[in-house]
Amino acid sequence: MPGFDRIANFYDRLARLVYGQAIVKAQCHFLSQIPPGSSVLIIGGGTGWILEKIIQTASPSYICYLEASEEMMALAKAFALENLPHDLSRIDFQLGTQEKLKELGAFDVVITFFFLDMFQGKRLGQVMAKLRGKMNPGAIWLFADFYHPTNKFRPIANLLIWTMYRFFRIVAGIEAKALPDFEAHFGQLSLEKMGEASFFHGMIVTRRYKSISMKSSQPK
Ligand SMILES: C[S@@+](CC[C@H](N)C(=O)[O-])C[C@H]1O[C@@H](n2cnc3c(N)ncnc32)[C@H](O)[C@@H]1O
Repeated sequence: MPGFDRIANFYDRLARLVYGQAIVKAQCHFLSQIPPGSSVLIIGGGTGWILEKIIQTASPSYICYLEASEEMMALAKAFALENLPHDLSRIDFQLGTQEKLKELGAFDVVITFFFLDMFQGKRLGQVMAKLRGKMNPGAIWLFADFYHPTNKFRPIANLLIWTMYRFFRIVAGIEAKALPDFEAHFGQLSLEKMGEASFFHGMIVTRRYKSISMKSSQPK
């Protein structure tokens, strides 16, 4: 699978060309809810600009930046070196996928921004269960992704989302073909929804979940 290497250099520009600042606003919306001193996991963080927003807004003690694309990771490291030279000691760059989670400890905050939409069905459930299994008691999960709104923009949203899936399946080889029902998946993970906001006429949603007592979502 080609992955995001070949589009890493223009991914942010492309996303902002289509969605403007909504992509950034959605990801920043709940960052102030990250408790000071938290350990944070960001999976599929992309080019790294989110690191600065997290460090500016919250005061985490440790950030694990888990990213599958070598090119994205190189951009994220370069970004941190240039913009966050005094914070490098608390950022742990890990090249890899959710499979690497078994080597890592548990976290107070899990962040998936425009990451889960690359999976669907059983595999999405497995990825989410792995992430859930890495949450400390009382930990929070910040989520942002696309959404099919029920308002008058639904037809445009449907077309845009369909086009995006076609594009990313061809250029990045993502496995999903359509936007999953994320709420249904979160609903199976002993997580309580604490907040929600939407952007770009309802086509982008962000949610904050909090872990409640686990039933049976240990990672496999
Ligand atoms: C759609 S981009 C989103 C990037 C970033 N979150 C943003 O919103 O700007 C998805 C990112 O996830 C990374 N990725 C894809 N599959 C992954 C996996 N299994 N584990 C970790 N990262 C992955 C890609 O390399 C890419 O950087």
